[in-house]
Amino acid sequence: MSGAATTFSGYERALVAADAAVDAELTQVGPGTPGGEYLRRFWHPVALSTEVKDLARAIRILGEDLVVFRDRSGRVGLLHRNCSHRRASLEFGIVAERGIRCCYHGWLYDVDGRILETPGEPATSTIKDNLRHGAYPAREYKGLVFAYLGPAAAIPPFPIYDTLDQPDDELVPYAIDYPCNWLQVNENPMDPFHSVFLHTRVTRAHFSPAWGALPIVAWHRMADDTGIVLTNTRRWNDYVWIRTAEWLAPNFAQPPDIYQDPDREKFFVRVAITKWHVPVDDTHCRILAWRHFSPSLDAGGRGNKGGVGLDKVDFIGQSGTERSYDEAQRLPGDYEAQVSQGPITVHALEQFGETDRGIALLRRMIREGIRVVKSGATPPRPALNADGLVPTNAGDVIFRVPRSNDDDALRRRLGDAVGRIVVESMALARAERQATVEHRVKELLAATVPGRG
Ligand code: FES
Ligand SMILES: [Fe+2]
Repeated sequence: MSGAATTFSGYERALVAADAAVDAELTQVGPGTPGGEYLRRFWHPVALSTEVKDLARAIRILGEDLVVFRDRSGRVGLLHRNCSHRRASLEFGIVAERGIRCCYHGWLYDVDGRILETPGEPATSTIKDNLRHGAYPAREYKGLVFAYLGPAAAIPPFPIYDTLDQPDDELVPYAIDYPCNWLQVNENPMDPFHSVFLHTRVTRAHFSPAWGALPIVAWHRMADDTGIVLTNTRRWNDYVWIRTAEWLAPNFAQPPDIYQDPDREKFFVRVAITKWHVPVDDTHCRILAWRHFSPSLDAGGRGNKGGVGLDKVDFIGQSGTERSYDEAQRLPGDYEAQVSQGPITVHALEQFGETDRGIALLRRMIREGIRVVKSGATPPRPALNADGLVPTNAGDVIFRVPRSNDDDALRRRLGDAVGRIVVESMALARAERQATVEHRVKELLAATVPGRG
């Protein structure tokens, strides 16, 4: 556009903005939309177990109004919210030994959508035999309720990730609502540069001052097309700190230790958070996640289990309810940066730089996934490791290496090498992988640092 580089161009820029549209393919989540169809090929967490008690709960997921409940025999159900009879909401239904009973005329629904009773109808009525109510498979796992909202014939296996089955690791579930489209929250983990600025230099250090060191970052598309792994390599005093982080399509991410300090050697300590960015509708989403508490994480003891749960997690700037507007302005966090982009951020109005390569790749992979599903094919699924779990790659490797004259080149080389070691070992069972990564990183160090090894 002419005049793009002139000053006082508010008028011209406003005209450009008025013309720009959201990317509907990437941001729509409702039934029948291309994005919604794609998202419906995966299991998603939909609630905390603690939210599903003796009363049914109205929730919205992927643009659908639903009700989640636990019947008196302990089974979790996820049904279309409005009764198949005359549309009363099942959030006012009464849970039964088996299923839930609509308050209005007593129709009883099983968790799979079968109609068990239509008590006001004559005994000869065949309504219940000929009609099914909308229902989705749901299951609870470690304090989260997961569901699959796609076609029943295409249901994928329920994925259990390697980081969810580690010794001495306590998983504390949490859920936080975001009043904005899922994609702008989902892409944040592939933007490690925001840690330097939002979390450190622009504000005060949310975590530790080392996060303000500018990293060398490389993003790698996984060979099986299931996601992205990045290496994020910082220099901090005598240490090189290599962080691998990941995003798995469509909406799963794992940040390593959020309270990491590069003050001692560590060989692939794993993640602080396992999370999903679940679309509620086009302009709302919900993070459903676990915080990990383990002796190998958070050596400084800054985490707080009590600060993790419904609408809260134990670091600053993560929800819209914890602070006043004023406080959020003085010390903004992820929530402010992501929600303030607007209900659905307009990609056409962004200006990408070198630091945004990961975001571009993530959007490209989601678009490819959407088109794969649109063509009638199945999106790629990760292979399992020797433990039968979905292997993941996020973690921290920290070691002492003297500063080099060309420290950027050194960091780039070490980051690439460690990234390769982590990814090449992902098929191994947990303990073997841990030993292999440590052994190979030490070999790398012996070859890099004179006198070491
Ligand atoms: S509206 Fe639910 S039973 Fe009639
Ligand atoms: Fe962040």
